[in-house]
Amino acid sequence: MVKERIRTYIEGFDEKMNGGVPKGHNILILGEPGTMKSTIAFYMLYMNAFENNRKSAYITLEQSREGLLEHIEAMGLDFDRVKNLISVVDLSLIRKNLDKLGQQTWTQIFKMYAQNLKKNMGYDLLVLDTLPVLELLANFTEPRNDLFHLFEWLKELDTTTILISEMSQSTKDFGKYGEDFLADGIIHLTMENVDGVTIQRRIRCVKMRGTNHSSDYYTLLYGDGEFQVTRVISEKSDFK
Ligand SMILES: Nc1ncnc2c1ncn2[C@@H]1O[C@H](COP(=O)(O)OP(=O)(O)O)[C@@H](O)[C@H]1O
Ligand SMILES: [Mg+2]
Repeated sequence: MVKERIRTYIEGFDEKMNGGVPKGHNILILGEPGTMKSTIAFYMLYMNAFENNRKSAYITLEQSREGLLEHIEAMGLDFDRVKNLISVVDLSLIRKNLDKLGQQTWTQIFKMYAQNLKKNMGYDLLVLDTLPVLELLANFTEPRNDLFHLFEWLKELDTTTILISEMSQSTKDFGKYGEDFLADGIIHLTMENVDGVTIQRRIRCVKMRGTNHSSDYYTLLYGDGEFQVTRVISEKSDFK
């Protein structure tokens, strides 16, 4: 049976991944700050809501709900058009009420929210922004073990999950504690200095289980509310 795929709706990029992310995969979107990780994750939810009526939940630990939605509007996406299909949950807000929550760890809080939303709205797509912030807040004592269990739990949740993660340019590791092995897919975002002056955004599918994908870098362009990729060519005219 051919597995259903969730499109990223980045024009030209889905074609490089047999049509998108296999439904049910738990994938990482990795990159330095400002590489548009949050924007791309939200764009995926936005387009899947708009085009396929798919429901989703975006759980943010890093940026406030307000900050995220302001950014999304500034990018030219109209949240109002999809607000019935996308729940944006600001978990940092509940930090204030942590006393009331007793001894629950942050991983439990995340799971509780993800599960309740699943029960109440039945989403197809889930975003966690970001995994390292959850690791930090949850104060993982055995990160490899804790992450293994988190990924096992996500599998049971029966949803397609995007875990956003930070990665500095100085490292070649896609995961500090084996996240890269646990994840079904990895999409890497970079900003490259092409001529000493100009910065180009790039995107690459590093890993996607069950998929005959290209591993090449593509230039990532954004304009008029749409993402698209082109082959990397080192000319200034290549980006907007
Ligand atoms: N209207 C816009 N059009 C294109 N790019 C923008 C616009 N507004 C902000 N950006 C870019 O988006 C970046 C932030 O994207 P974001 O998804 O928050 O990155 P990340 O989550 O990887 O840190 C900014 O650093 C800026 O370069
Ligand atoms: Mg972000």
